Parts: sequence; structure tokens; C-alpha cells
Amino acid sequence: MRNTTWRAASRAALALTGAGALAAGMAMVLVTPASAGTTLGASAAEKGRYFGTAVAANKLSDSAYTTILNREFTMVTAENEMKIDATEPQQGQFRYSQADPIVNHARTHGMQVRGHTLAWHGQQPGWMQGMEGTALRTAMLNHVTQVVSHYRGQIYSWDVVNEAFADGNSGGRRDSNLQRTGNDWIEAAFRAARAADPGAKLCYNDYNTDNWTWAKTQGVYNMVRDFKARGVPIDCVGFQSHFNNDSPYVSNYRTTLSSFAALGVDVQITELDIQGAPANTYRSVVEDCLAVARCNGITVWGIRDSDSWRASQTPLLFNSNGSKKPAYDAVLAALNNGTTPPTT
Ligand code: G3I
Repeated sequence: MRNTTWRAASRAALALTGAGALAAGMAMVLVTPASAGTTLGASAAEKGRYFGTAVAANKLSDSAYTTILNREFTMVTAENEMKIDATEPQQGQFRYSQADPIVNHARTHGMQVRGHTLAWHGQQPGWMQGMEGTALRTAMLNHVTQVVSHYRGQIYSWDVVNEAFADGNSGGRRDSNLQRTGNDWIEAAFRAARAADPGAKLCYNDYNTDNWTWAKTQGVYNMVRDFKARGVPIDCVGFQSHFNNDSPYVSNYRTTLSSFAALGVDVQITELDIQGAPANTYRSVVEDCLAVARCNGITVWGIRDSDSWRASQTPLLFNSNGSKKPAYDAVLAALNNGTTPPTT
């Protein structure tokens, strides 16, 4: 069974309904309150969704960081610690000492985990960078099987394959050592992941796929449509949504999310950050997710601006001293005012 415990929503609902029901001596009925959330996670949960963040293991000892993490978020993605170079630094030698503390922190605090990422041209360990052909294909599939098996039952969704499409106008695949093993490498990875953990949702994840008119978006869309038609086990598409001046938020983003969802997959906003953190744009992204029933949730790519991979763009919801920014208020308000009923 997939994990769908909405800890924060249940807590809020119990608080609101418990006292009255008990006073009246009646059996308690769990009623989801409207717009009662005071944190990102609680408010998203009231809409049947999660609100997540990327987490770096070396920041778990920073109490200012963990205070915000534990208060606001219901989903966690390891920013780097589950990548191939971290989990299989030497071929056949698997290492979870960086990722396990993040998973343990999440589980201890009732958060779920997105797994990121299994098959990618980036952050490959040296041994893999030098591989080609059948040997690489076998090594990649073994990596998927081993890592997914290690975390079996603990992952809400896996980014099975990351960033396999080319930027620009081709709409085709990116060249990489993985791509050169044969065009079916992506579906092979998905099949291996499904076999290793049938309970995790399996996502394809990419960037510059937000604008419905872009060739890259259409390329991924066509792949997902083909996978669904042929029974390749794909459950979700991740939209990184790193918005900036070169790849800005556009109003057809909602069309993109709903078009993918119409193929029969969930959609997830997996690495959201927006240059300058304009409140209106953050609000629009949240409203777009709430408008699409199969949009499971939103993950921002870091907590404070100082935690961001693009810190100079100040793209996140908290400033570097941990204070809430106007974008935070806009996101919370959007979560509390959305009207789409929760999905299962
Ligand atoms: O940990 C080492 C440190 O020991 C060393 O001194 C330092 C010197 O450069 O590097 C540190 O590693 C860096 C690592 O982040 C941890 O901070 C790497 O150089 C750096 O390349 C790495 O960047 C990460 C990047 O992925 C690499 O591809 C970012 O943190 C991470 O936010 C970013 O995340 C990606 C997603 O996985 C996929 N989508 C795009 C997104 C943003 O690029």
C-alpha cells in the first residue's frame, strides 16, 4: 500500500472535532476542517497533498534548519545523498551512510520521502562514467535494484530516471552514456524499480518541461504516452520547476500538469524554486497544483535562501535567517483557499 498518512491533517482535524464530540458524548467523526492550516504541511494535507523540501544531511545538526523542517514539511527529498555517486561510490559497494540519516529523520518526524535519483547522466561515480554498452546497462539496472530494495516500503515515490531529454528544439533524448546503451534504457530502469518495490510510485523527473509549448515538454509527454500505451510501469512525472529568467513560469503550466495527468499518471512539483521568489508566482504554482486532481504535492528545493543551489537568486520561501518571506505567506494562503477536493 502506498503511504498516505496525512499526519498534519489528522492532527488538525482531531483538534477541531475532538473536544466538541467528546463533550456531547458522541462517537468522534473525523471531519477535515476548511482552511485551518498554519503550516505548509498542514495546509497542503487539508487538500490531500504534501509539501516537501530538499534536505542536505550535513544540515541536520543545524537546529535553526531542523526547526523549520520539522514544523513546515511533510515530505523530504535528499538533495544529493541518494544519487549514484553517493550510494554506489565503488561498483558493487553500496553505501547508505549519507542517505539513511535523512530517511531516519523523516520517518522519526512523520514525514514521507521522495527518492532522488536512480538513473541519471549527472553525479555518476567515476567507475560508471567510464562505462558503456552492455556492462553499463547491467550496472545501471543492478544499481536500481539494489537501492530500491534497500529502501523498499520507505519511499513515497522514486525519481527513477532524471533529466534524460535534451534542451532546445529537438524534443529528443539527451546524449549520454546511458542513452547510448539503447533507447529502451529508461523503460528497463522503470521495470527494475517496480520489481524491487511495487509500493513506490515511479516517476520520470526533468527540468524545462513546464512550458507546454516547449519541444522538451512534448518529448517527455510523448514518451509517457507511449509508456502508458505499452504498459511500462510509470506512475508519475516530476516537474523540477526551477523557474528563472531563462525558464520562467508561464500561465500554460497548469495545462502542462493537467495534460500529463490526463495520460493516467500523477504529477509532482519536485524541485521548485523561483528567482527572486515573487509571491504572485509562488501563489500561481500552488493554485495550478491544487487545480489538478492528480498533482500530489509540491517540493521546494531547499528551506532557506542560504540552503539553495542558487542562493544568489534568493529563490526560496525563507530568508537566510529563517524568517518567512512574502512568498511563504502567499503559498500558505493559496493552500488554505484552494477549493479542489482531496484525491486519494
Ligand atoms: O560535498 C562536496 C564538498 O566536500 C566539496 O568541498 C565541494 C567543492 O565543490 O563540493 C561538494 O559537493 C557539491 C554538492 O552539491 C554538495 O554541496 C558538488 O560540488 C555540487 O556539484 C553539488 O551540487 C548539487 C547539484 O545537484 C549537482 O548536480 C546541488 O547541491 C543540488 O542541489 C543539485 O540538485 C539538482 C537535482 O539533483 C536535479 N535537478 C537539478 C538540481 C539543481 O542543479
